[in-house]
Formats: sequence, structure tokens, C-alpha cells
Amino acid sequence: MSRCLITKAEVQLFIERCMGAVGTKPHHARSLAEVLVEGDHRGHYSHGLNRMDMYVKDIQTKICEKDGEPVIEKESPATALVDGKNLLGPVVGNFCMDLAIKKAKEVGIGWVVAHGSNHYGIAGYYSMQALKSNMIGMSFTNTSPLVVPTRGKECTLGTNPISVAAPARDGDSFVLDMATSAVALGKVELHDRRGDSIPEGWGCDAQGKLTPDPKKVLNGGGLVPIGGCEATGGYKGYGLGMMVELFCGILAGAQYSKHIRTWKVTDRIANLGQCFVAINPENFASGFNDRMSDLLSIQRELEPADSEHPVLAAGDPERMNMKKCEELGGIPYHINVVNFMNECGQRLGVNPLLPTDKVISL
Ligand SMILES: NC(=O)c1ccc[n+]([C@@H]2O[C@H](COP(=O)([O-])OP(=O)(O)OC[C@H]3O[C@@H](n4cnc5c(N)ncnc54)[C@H](O)[C@@H]3O)[C@@H](O)[C@H]2O)c1
Repeated sequence: MSRCLITKAEVQLFIERCMGAVGTKPHHARSLAEVLVEGDHRGHYSHGLNRMDMYVKDIQTKICEKDGEPVIEKESPATALVDGKNLLGPVVGNFCMDLAIKKAKEVGIGWVVAHGSNHYGIAGYYSMQALKSNMIGMSFTNTSPLVVPTRGKECTLGTNPISVAAPARDGDSFVLDMATSAVALGKVELHDRRGDSIPEGWGCDAQGKLTPDPKKVLNGGGLVPIGGCEATGGYKGYGLGMMVELFCGILAGAQYSKHIRTWKVTDRIANLGQCFVAINPENFASGFNDRMSDLLSIQRELEPADSEHPVLAAGDPERMNMKKCEELGGIPYHINVVNFMNECGQRLGVNPLLPTDKVISL
């Protein structure tokens, strides 16, 4: 498969150009671009440049605000409730995570929730901000309903991601960043486009039965929670999705569960709920970083079941992807994605994405 390489700086500026062309405030466009570039850099292409047209459309159709700043509605030394003012998700996310970190520096913990937000990209972007201050970070968001609860047949939960980041020694860290559905919807769509069946345990049909047919999942069925069906512990993923919802929609007084608008249907504002937490390990037992490093080493140094596949810790696959990008000198994109984005750019009258002259086969 041939891919072209684009430098991080070029992707960043292209997204800023496109968002600027529809009137987004420069620092809001920068915040969005940083989150999307980070998504691609970490290998989560489903939450990077690929999604830019969705944000452009949200601003163009005025379903999302391009001006203003989030507002603190209620505050205590350790907590805050924020009104995201229907701004771009990364603008709300950065505001809340910065506030949580500030509080954790002052009182040991900061727990901030927001209503009135929008899609914020990869959850890990926000939890990882806490690592810069040697703190534990957490971030959660609710999303449009795509997941069917165990024993159910209707989608009433989003793919509600969880991210927890914790600093170890010498810049090392644990970064768990995961959806609470077994897989992302995009993976089911991709199999459908290719005419392939899907593995058992990804999604169910309109009757709530697991199915290998992606069409049945996409037309009236839904994704299943992490764990798959009840016999394989799907109810635990279902419970985690509910936990995210209670930290987000319920705690923040945002939309929740099936009341959130349908995925990709922008007939009304999203009013997503999000939650951002920072914890200062200094307020607990000393030696946190050393023990974190030891915990990571215990797993990574295990003898693997298959010698070609070493045991990893959460955050390692993304670290390997970033290293690969550094070695290549940019982020590898499929040519179709670049062409599609350049068509979007052309419609907006901005200069195109310029790939480097390296074409690579992956
Ligand atoms: N904003 C939203 O609405 C939304 C919704 C869903 C997902 N997302 C984002 O999508 C991205 C992808 O989510 P996902 O669930 O598909 O991620 P994933 O399944 O690729 O990875 C999940 C986690 O598992 C870890 N991991 C992967 N392989 C591992 C291994 N062999 N050993 C140990 N750990 C391993 C990863 O480091 C990561 O922390 C995330 O960044 C998430 O925040 C966003």
C-alpha cells in the first residue's frame, strides 16, 4: 500500500488554514490541529486529519461556536463545573485540563467537568497534559449512542473513551487510552467497504445477537461493549461505558445516553459532557515514579508467549508509532486521505497539504 509522508508541522498548518478559512479563532484552530496531529502521530488515524471535515462542517453550519471561551460556572479548591459554550471540543478540553492541573498543584487534586462541549479527539491528549507536571491525568467523554448494552438491542451508550496517564522515571509513562466499545465503528465500516465479515464479538444485529455481518451492525444493530457478549464479560465493558457516562453527562448536566444526538447527524447542538482529572502523586506515598517504572518493567520484561511479540504496557504501541514517524521524517498517510483533504482545502480556498517527496510502502 503506498503512502506519502507529511511532516507534523505541515499537517498542523493545513488544519489551521482550513479552520481559519471558515472563521475559527486562530488559537481555537491551533488547539484542534494539535489534537488531530497528535492522534495521527500516535497511530490513531480514526481521530486525526481524517476527521477534519467534520469539524469544518460543524463551524460552517454554525452548529458549533467559533468564538468565545469556556466559562467556570461553579468552583471549589479541587473542583469546577465548566460551561463549554458549545465551542470546539479541544478548546473546552484544554481549558478544563489546565484548570484541573492548576488545582492539583494547589490542593493535590483537580476534578473538572464540562457540559456544552463537542467532539474532542483522542482522550489521551488531555490526560497526557498532566504528565508534563509529573501528575496522573484522566480524561473521559460521552459520545453519540453506538453501543448496545449487554442483553439489549438498542444503542444507548457511546464509545465513551477512558484515558489514564501516569508518569514513571526518565520521561517514561503509562498511557491507557481506549474506547469502551470492543472496536471503533470505523473498523466495522472498513470491513463493510471491503466486503469482509467481522470477527464475532465486535457488533450485534437489530435483535441484539452478535453477528459477523458488518451490514447488520451498521443498519439497525450496533457495537458491543469491550468483552463482547455476556459469556465473555461484555457486561464489564458495559459497566465502564456507564461509568464514563456518569462522570460526564450525568455529573456535568450535559446530554447523556440515548438523548445525545445521532452520530454524524448535526440537527442540534451536541452538548457533550466531559471529565478531566489531575492527581498530584506528591500528596501520597513518596517514590511514585520509581514504583511506576518498576510496575512497567515487571510487565515489559516478562518472557512473551510468542518471542516475536514482546509484552507491552499501555502507551507502548503509540510510542512505537511515534518513533516510526520520527525515523521516516513525517506521518505516513494513505494517498486517498491526502487527496480527499486537498479537495476539502480547495473548496475552502486554502493552499494544499504538501507531502514530502518520499513515497513509502507499508
Ligand atoms: N472522542 C471520542 O469520541 C472517542 C471515542 C472513542 C475513541 N476515541 C479515541 O480513539 C482512540 C483509539 O481507541 P481504541 O480503543 O481503538 O484504542 P486501541 O484499542 O488501539 O488501544 C487501547 C489501549 O490499549 C493499549 N494497547 C494496545 N495494544 C496493547 C498491547 N499489546 N499491550 C498493552 N497495551 C496495549 C494502547 O496503548 C491503548 O492505551 C483513542 O485515542 C480514544 O481516545 C475517541
